[in-house]
Amino acid sequence: MKIDGKDMRTIWVESDAESVGIIDQTLLPHRFATVTLATLADAARAIKTMQVRGAPLIGVTAAYGVWLALRADASDENLERAYAALLATRPTAINLQWALDEMLAAVRNRPRGERAAAALRRAGEICEQDIASSLGIGRHGLKLIEDIAARKNGERVNVLTHCNAGWLAAVDWGTATAPIYLAHDQGVAVHVFADETRPRNQGASLTAWELGRHGVPHTVIPDNTGGHLMQHGLVDLVIVGADRVSAQGDVCNKIGTYLKALAAADNKVPFYVALPSSTIDFSISDGLTEIPIEQRDASEVTRMTGKTADGCVVSVQVVPDGSAVANYGFDVTPARLVTGLITERGVLAASRAALAAAFPERSKIR
Ligand code: MRU
Repeated sequence: MKIDGKDMRTIWVESDAESVGIIDQTLLPHRFATVTLATLADAARAIKTMQVRGAPLIGVTAAYGVWLALRADASDENLERAYAALLATRPTAINLQWALDEMLAAVRNRPRGERAAAALRRAGEICEQDIASSLGIGRHGLKLIEDIAARKNGERVNVLTHCNAGWLAAVDWGTATAPIYLAHDQGVAVHVFADETRPRNQGASLTAWELGRHGVPHTVIPDNTGGHLMQHGLVDLVIVGADRVSAQGDVCNKIGTYLKALAAADNKVPFYVALPSSTIDFSISDGLTEIPIEQRDASEVTRMTGKTADGCVVSVQVVPDGSAVANYGFDVTPARLVTGLITERGVLAASRAALAAAFPERSKIR
């Protein structure tokens, strides 16, 4: 994607070939700044504090984190320490474990002297693979948008999305946004309703920011607005991302996704989930009972951050002193509410049979 006319990815190896650059997403949309990660601790902190976030990007950052750890110390003990430290950063997005397992497999059986170079190579491949997956998702999802545009005689297609499953959540293009960017670039009139996504407002601060940078028409809506829009025929399709999809097609995504799926089902609006295969967890079946749901700090609910009229970014309290707070980061949408899974290998039914048929090499692993 282009930022101020310059091609950018969300993560890159710095020119010193000793560290990794990222965009500090905690500062967006009010400030754009990059950060250099030079150590395992830097990478783990970046994931934990959500300087990087979004399932695919978390996985890629962890992969580079293993490289940074092995640059300092390529022993078995340090490899194990890096795996454990990175795995502990966030519990829900399965791309994290997927990437760490890939890294382990790439370096474990090599002599210590070769491990850092092998880790850098594999992390780079994972990075490129993520971009290829996003583009695959984009091409398959584009067809869905084009079909609706044709049905509407070219009138604009309204897509509702939740959270940020965009360029910022992956390495490039995004997952839910990839079909949208491709459609927009090809001249299909497409408009996005971006849920604000309380409590951290990834929709309002990140999705709106990146759509705006790319010139995609969009409207930020409070989280509770989607149902109303659907009742009035103002949403043609929903496309969301995913943090983990179970073998039977249940979808874990940012809290609030399930309510959008219910509203979509009630209003016969197609509800699609866009994901790379690294987001599928073939080791579990029932997403509702088996996916660990991250519970995040109460301060994300009690406080909001924003820009004042004089341009200062401040954090203010919006909940009375002493009120109890619950902050579940994710929810699970059962497969029966999902119209289709947009993957790099096509648009699939949200079912065990369809996932296993499309990804036979992954479904047999565990
Ligand atoms: O908690 P976050 O910001 O890391 O949330 C994860 C997400 O970005 C979303 O749930 C997204 O919709 C799926 S990841 C492409």
